Amino acid sequence: MKSFGCQMNVYDAARMTDLLAGEGYGETASEEDADLVILNTCHIRERAAEKIYSELGKLAVLKRERAEAGRDFKIVVAGCVAQAEGELVLRRQKAVDVVVGPQSYQHLPRLLRRAAEGARLTDTDFAVEEKFRDLPKPTRAQIAARGVSAFVTVQEGCDKFCSFCVVPYTRGAEVSRDVAQVVTETKRLVDAGVREITLIGQNVNAYRGEDSLGDPWPLERLLEHLSDIDGLERLRYTTSHPVDMTQGLIDAHGALPKLMPFVHLPVQSGSDRVLKAMNRRHSAQDYLDIVARLRAARPDVALSSDFIVGFPGETDADFEETLALIRAVGFASTFSFKYSPRPGTPGAEREDHIADEIMRERLAILQGLVETQRQAFNTATVGRVVNILFEKRGRHDGQIAGKSPYMQPVHVFGPPELVGRVLPAKITAAGSNSLSGEIVQGQEQG
Ligand code: 5AD
Ligand code: SF4
Repeated sequence: MKSFGCQMNVYDAARMTDLLAGEGYGETASEEDADLVILNTCHIRERAAEKIYSELGKLAVLKRERAEAGRDFKIVVAGCVAQAEGELVLRRQKAVDVVVGPQSYQHLPRLLRRAAEGARLTDTDFAVEEKFRDLPKPTRAQIAARGVSAFVTVQEGCDKFCSFCVVPYTRGAEVSRDVAQVVTETKRLVDAGVREITLIGQNVNAYRGEDSLGDPWPLERLLEHLSDIDGLERLRYTTSHPVDMTQGLIDAHGALPKLMPFVHLPVQSGSDRVLKAMNRRHSAQDYLDIVARLRAARPDVALSSDFIVGFPGETDADFEETLALIRAVGFASTFSFKYSPRPGTPGAEREDHIADEIMRERLAILQGLVETQRQAFNTATVGRVVNILFEKRGRHDGQIAGKSPYMQPVHVFGPPELVGRVLPAKITAAGSNSLSGEIVQGQEQG
């Protein structure tokens, strides 16, 4: 199982692995040892999609070698490239046996049986509800093997149609899972040792799952309800859209101690003109207002965002406005990308595309600025005592590694028995990618 792209894919990859465990498959560390390779793909930018075809080229060679040795080898393309390109994947790479979309992978056992008989198949149905109903529940051992922090998909798809984005086409319309399903899955994870749950969805804060009476719950109500689960220490959610950032959800950051003070809230651009062209449905000032209200509710909240530079028609002045927004907010972490035209999206149809050279320059400037902010944020943590959820052994002997409430990786010296515990640590130094700290005895804090 090789997964690319976002957290939704990480979750789907785990579900596919669990599903196939029931069919007698086990995960291998490398494709050389495998009888079946699943590429769980990403279509968000052209480079991500093209990478899949070069991966497939290598797998095709492996498949030929296997065939010569009289051994079977099957290749499955799952995820968003499968959804977007369907049959085309089978035509472009003859070695591929099965193409299966993110809403129909519950059919994999059946598809693989047909592939074993020599068929080449595509299944890109949108069957989200059926998917969640039919997938097997992970065992305690499967959950434990994935660590103390887990994802739970609560929402899939997107109705926003930002003019650069393929997601509404690859993942379909917004669908929320019922409250009871989410609660059952979360309790199961916590019972098996999970301490941190991240609720995930392409537009997670547009969540409207129904309770047993058919009433739709907003995300903050779900978070509040999950907060009551004993043994669950931390809650997070990602990814959010600014227009769905309601005051109710903002207030939850002040009211729920288990809800971590870190919000990933992509803004994409700081120029109203570009935001409008992107069909984002909010202004730069709206975004700044949301940030101010989040900080009023939870003063230490850390912000994270995604940016696209070089959307068609973006001028130097537009780009300056993005830099101004970044300076005004001060981000703890960010992801930033050059605009990549995606087939079928309105942005790709435009005639005022920005030269790659200019996009590269803008990206470098933006990344320089956000890197300074990230380091300033990390340095400001030095000297503070923060709670760390320890997740695994560290790189060096005697070290363990975990995360601060603000998603910073932290290393301390301590015994591996502390994995799964939340303990206060004094941060002693900020390295380029992680913090170092010391566990503080007898200072348990909220
Ligand atoms: N080009 C560049 N970046 C994109 N993203 C989405 N679509 C594109 C595109 N066509 C970025 C956005 C989004 C993140 C997941 O990927 O910033 O928030
Ligand atoms: Fe894509 Fe916009 Fe939907 Fe996010 S909100 S998935 S960027 S269309």
